[in-house]
Amino acid sequence: MADELEKVERETNTLWHGRFAEGPAEALMNMTVSLPFDQRLAPDDLRGSRAHVNMLEFVGLLTSDERVAILDALDVVEDELKRRQFEFVATDEDIHTAIERRVTEIAGDAGAKLHTGRSRNDQVALDLRLWVMRETRTVVARLHGLQTVLLRRAQECGDDEYVPGYTHLQRAQPVLLAHHLLAHVWALARDVERWQYVAKRCDVSPLGAGALAGSSLPIDPDHVAEALGFSYRFENSLDAVSDRDFVAEALFAAALAQVHLSRLGEEIVLWSSDEFGFIRLSDEFSTGSSMLPQKKNPDVAELARGKAGRLIGNLTGFLATLKGLPLSYNRDLQEDKEPLFDAVDTLTVTLLALTGLMDTVEFETNRMRAAADAETSSATDLAEYLVTQGTPFREAHAVVGALVRQSLERHIPLGELIAAEPRFDEDALALLAPGVAVKRRSSPGGGGPEPVAVQMQAACDLLSGEQEWLDQ
Ligand code: ARG
Repeated sequence: MADELEKVERETNTLWHGRFAEGPAEALMNMTVSLPFDQRLAPDDLRGSRAHVNMLEFVGLLTSDERVAILDALDVVEDELKRRQFEFVATDEDIHTAIERRVTEIAGDAGAKLHTGRSRNDQVALDLRLWVMRETRTVVARLHGLQTVLLRRAQECGDDEYVPGYTHLQRAQPVLLAHHLLAHVWALARDVERWQYVAKRCDVSPLGAGALAGSSLPIDPDHVAEALGFSYRFENSLDAVSDRDFVAEALFAAALAQVHLSRLGEEIVLWSSDEFGFIRLSDEFSTGSSMLPQKKNPDVAELARGKAGRLIGNLTGFLATLKGLPLSYNRDLQEDKEPLFDAVDTLTVTLLALTGLMDTVEFETNRMRAAADAETSSATDLAEYLVTQGTPFREAHAVVGALVRQSLERHIPLGELIAAEPRFDEDALALLAPGVAVKRRSSPGGGGPEPVAVQMQAACDLLSGEQEWLDQ
């Protein structure tokens, strides 16, 4: 891009050259142009301009011939951009400037009327809202894609496979592997909701706010809002061009989603280690070492974790950009795009890779089961057994805790101590048998087969609802 800019003769004027006797310094342009990164707003800018032009004719500011001439020029621009034949010039500060310049070259005097009643301030706010609404569909589709794979893997595990559930990364109580996988589905469901909310937040058209105060021309902001499918238009022109809440909210929604992927990533890193040995990564979704021939590394999971730092930075950085700004538009706001684009790109690329990883990962179910079947996994069940016999829970907790301590100190299997303890009978001893504890996690929302079956149905319903939203 920089090369291209340098190649072009600097004879073309900026949009705002009238007030200036001298052209802009190269150093100023190098610092202020946003074209290298805002080109991706082109489809949104074209859409916005078409709606604007239609409105201008509707209110009598353009003749029908002028409208057609501009719309035709916009089609040419779209085509040139698509075919990568659009020639940018050194004074194209941003995609908005570039498109207007080219439309004017093509459509002459009619083209020079494109920007009537409009400022780049309301134009850029509009374009970015349209972009976020457009990208929300991709983000939601990919969140949904990962959920779908996690749900399918959970369904495949059924009632047979279980893992130790952890607190403090210490084995606590066994749960179905399906329960563990579904836990991530619910976190992602909140991400889907957050993104849907972000799209709603964007659903207010700012076009017609002008630079900051509206216009003396008879423009009709409702006309463009409706044509573009917005539910609302701005109430206050100052707020319309100042407001980047939707960017901050999108950055938060992206950062939190990436934090969820980071936490899933951390589990993948742990579970794929020899120490856990709970999963084996597919060749497609793991990497090797340049020096250590034996290595198979979980780089996708590590980068899901690592990139969360970047997304948190994008959010906090942009909030810092916003915090000191007076009304209304300030050039600082141009700093909204790079963190936003980066956050969305990072999140979507991570989602796709993690989906592939989870789709192809092999569960080492024997290792999982062996770890979950440790006798101490049933300690809570033993205490709860005493509770059913009338012992107050606190006392039952102390009794079982003391037996676990003895078992560890004297290297005697817990089962032997239970067998010798008069408070417990055969039924209590049976609680220590492999696979029993997980079946007993039967309360609503719990990790055993009965509640997990209910949960599975709820997750299926959730995903159908998301699919309906995506199909709209
Ligand atoms: N590229 C600019 C941005 O992204 C466009 C707005 C410039 N407006 C202005 N008054 N200089 O914010």
